Amino acid sequence: MKSPNKWLSAGLAGLALAVLPAAAQAKLDVDLTSPIGTIQPEIYGQFLEHLGAQPYDGIWVGPDSDIPNTDGIRDDVFAALKALHVPVIRWPGGCYADLYHWRDGLGPQDQRPLRNNMVWGGTPEPNAFGTHEFFNLAERLGARTYLNLNLGTGSTREAADWLEYLTATTGARADERRANGREAPWTVDYVAIGNETWGCGGHQTPEAYADQYAMYASFAKTEGEQPKRIISGSHDENIEYSDTVLSHPYIADLAEGISLHVYTLPTGDWGHKGAATGFPEEEWISAIQRTLRMDKVIDAQVAMFAKHADLPDDFGLYVDEWGMWVDPATEDDHKLYQQNTIRDAVVAALNLNIFQSHADVVKMANIAQMVNVLQAMILTDGPRMVLTPTYHVFEMYEPFMGAEALRVTLDTPDYALGEVAVPAISASAARRTDGKIVLALVNADARDSHTIDASAFGARRAEGRILTAVTMDAHNTFDHPDTVKPMPYAAKGSRGTLVLSLPPRSVIVVTLEQ
Ligand code: AHR
Repeated sequence: MKSPNKWLSAGLAGLALAVLPAAAQAKLDVDLTSPIGTIQPEIYGQFLEHLGAQPYDGIWVGPDSDIPNTDGIRDDVFAALKALHVPVIRWPGGCYADLYHWRDGLGPQDQRPLRNNMVWGGTPEPNAFGTHEFFNLAERLGARTYLNLNLGTGSTREAADWLEYLTATTGARADERRANGREAPWTVDYVAIGNETWGCGGHQTPEAYADQYAMYASFAKTEGEQPKRIISGSHDENIEYSDTVLSHPYIADLAEGISLHVYTLPTGDWGHKGAATGFPEEEWISAIQRTLRMDKVIDAQVAMFAKHADLPDDFGLYVDEWGMWVDPATEDDHKLYQQNTIRDAVVAALNLNIFQSHADVVKMANIAQMVNVLQAMILTDGPRMVLTPTYHVFEMYEPFMGAEALRVTLDTPDYALGEVAVPAISASAARRTDGKIVLALVNADARDSHTIDASAFGARRAEGRILTAVTMDAHNTFDHPDTVKPMPYAAKGSRGTLVLSLPPRSVIVVTLEQ
């Protein structure tokens, strides 16, 4: 543990230890003096790819649907996303972005071509949810826009035209946009050039991709403020790809960030990832262990950035795909539909804590994905909708958006099973613009509760919410939508101490009072 700050007196520390059980006692200190950086709201970003039941059914039902909708976007899902204050949405992929031709999704609905989504099982793609539908959705939500340009089957011409169509105030493309019903230009906040270019995005060598990137980035222009340009980078620990791309002589002047993809497979095996529900405790702890890799992976990226002296100081890491990936619930593997449990909630909170602790470099993160795909916020079935435990974590973490991330020091007991041991507790703290300190705590232990002594930095009272559940795979269903939902949580200090109790499998977000 690092040396105590000004709030801690030896007398208080002695008192705390005297009145609390020594076993399984975690200890937390927060440095109030040297913040890490502003937590970009975009780290709570979403990802909307055309695959499975997203966007069709999950978001877009069409104006003629019996499901209540506004201009084709279902009202229940929209209201849930609005309540989440979604900061940014990445669209239209993923792998699908490299197959997407934006002109297919323009104009009258009945004249749009029916295509097949060949990267996701050849499923019908009606193109009903296109450029206008996406940008209108983002605008209504107040979300920033993150467009993934088509590098695989597109062209610089096509990408440049799309950006002109979206943002021009005069000229033929602006007139075409107006004729399609949109007078004012939209804002494109971020563009990615390619996706997983080492894999589904073309199996390109980093050298070949870097050349292509430079070409696209040179023509990816908008009218007005320019979008931030994001390079398609590495996945997991495979750092060399990004390292080589960043060695391209011109790239530092053509990019504001690079992406990183890290998925959590409970078993770590793509052939047998593990089940969403009904899993053994071995797959709980291995999911925790595997997701905690994110911390080291980001550290390695930061160390690699340091080798590239020409990168601008505010060059960012964009973790634009992350989350749990388990074996599919349906026979159609391409739908990537999976149930979402308290394990997903714990995994989400652990990752958000890690992103917040790297607030100086992680400028955006996009959980995969928003509705009905992988670790979704929302699941739908016809007219029904349910919020997942992951949705509740995102909602609970809202007070962190735009706050100053603070450094935490944590002494935590281990949670162990067989040969595997992980830290039981994870913590993240931030100072909000109103001066209040907000604290997130996760107890990743599937079996035991823990207490945490948070007296050190002067907090005397904590109030907020807790998300927990009685079983490892507790989840919400259409018939029982409130099995896992946040409950009020409060802890009051006594005689100069503040001790918080963390039940097993729990996520807590509290505001601290001194
Ligand atoms: O999120 C699903 C897929 O995972 C994305 O399309 C791709 O980029 C990644 O491999």
